[in-house]
Amino acid sequence: MNEDQMIELYQSLLAGNRIWVDTKLKENANFFHELAKGQNPPVLWIGCADSRVPANEITNTKPGEVFVHRNLANMVVHTDINMLSVLDFAVTQLGVKHVIVCGHYNCGGINAALSSTHFGLIDNWLRNIKDVYRLHQEELDAIKEPEGRSRRLVELNVIEQVYNLSKTSAVQNAWDENKPLMIHGWVYDVANGIIKDLMVSRKNNSKMADIYKFDFE
Ligand code: CO
Repeated sequence: MNEDQMIELYQSLLAGNRIWVDTKLKENANFFHELAKGQNPPVLWIGCADSRVPANEITNTKPGEVFVHRNLANMVVHTDINMLSVLDFAVTQLGVKHVIVCGHYNCGGINAALSSTHFGLIDNWLRNIKDVYRLHQEELDAIKEPEGRSRRLVELNVIEQVYNLSKTSAVQNAWDENKPLMIHGWVYDVANGIIKDLMVSRKNNSKMADIYKFDFE
């Protein structure tokens, strides 16, 4: 890509914005006026940064309906102050009712973690996925076909991240205070657009290992 093409690409995003604004105003003249009043999203989405998995678009939701955090391979890492801050804000300030961890098949982060390649800085992030592999090594090693193994690791990773989510102070505090808060694990298929519910939803800590439970008395 030469410099002219680079500038053209960048300008096309701004031009696209104006087209979008015009479209929205034609649909509803008050669209931005209403959004400017504030947000009250009932859902927090923790998804992959992958450009093919835009939270609003694939759930047919509008601006204002989904609070979003995205990172490489939709991870819930206990030392990630960015994710923890988004989660805390969403649960304690916005009062979201659902937190959804959404992974996707064909995830570059998952496939990178499955390889032995040394990538640099992101190795430290991908190692969290390798830890998930080790937890489920027997099942994953038994899948000989690489794509099938990748797809299963995508699912198992989401399940582990939902579990990680349940362990956080923000979620355990909300449950202790009997706030209605559910957490869920989904996988999006980039090849057909369909979201699969992994059926690992939680609304309390009853299925959590005791070692993670806080004593709130
Ligand atoms: Co991904």
